[in-house]
Amino acid sequence: MINGFIFDLDGVIVNTEEHHYKAWKEIANKLNVDFNKSLNENLKGLSRKESLKKLLELNKKKISENEFVNFLIEKNKIYKSLIDGIDETNILDGVQNILKIADKNNISVAIGSSSKNAKMILKKLNLYNRFKIIIDGNMVTNPKPDPEVFIKAAKLMRKKIDECIVFEDAVSGIIAAERGGFKVIGVRNLNLKNRTDQFINSLSEFRLDDYEKKI
Ligand code: BG6
Ligand code: MG
Repeated sequence: MINGFIFDLDGVIVNTEEHHYKAWKEIANKLNVDFNKSLNENLKGLSRKESLKKLLELNKKKISENEFVNFLIEKNKIYKSLIDGIDETNILDGVQNILKIADKNNISVAIGSSSKNAKMILKKLNLYNRFKIIIDGNMVTNPKPDPEVFIKAAKLMRKKIDECIVFEDAVSGIIAAERGGFKVIGVRNLNLKNRTDQFINSLSEFRLDDYEKKI
């Protein structure tokens, strides 16, 4: 029996994974290091700090503490200017539909995101009030791939972990959900196709009846 849906934000609810990519690409250019969509898969879902660490590690590049902090500030500046104009048209396919499925079946919904900008983004999308429970990057000590963000969401929803499905588009998020003992569905990111038992191209493909028959 499924009683809770926990959604990652970037790349599941809204197409901002593209904006994160573009912002990191600019930072990579400034750092004079390699970066492309394939390397970006290693960053997806990680916190801002862990993403920069990963970018440097992938390129075996070392910078000072001070530069590190400044690049984090700069990345967020670039990212925020890129998402400045986002609105409902950036909401991904199937979001409204899956929220209706949740309502109809008395399933609680929550956001479990690594982003410190999550609440601001949800407001721009007019979705802020749709999610009573929003756990974001400001509210966890241990970011994904640690399961803390999803465990907090399940606790606040007062749902058992094995009654919740986590919807994720990043490997780090899939690992977090699995470590936490959640059911997990890979969404949109074709790189997850062989990584998860359950994969859907968009939330609009989700069928609760079919899913419950399989578990
Ligand atoms: C995640 C994204 O949702 O949030 C990552 O998948 C991003 O790419 C992370 O690094 C942190 O986001 P922010 O907005 O706090 O920099
Ligand atoms: Mg994501």
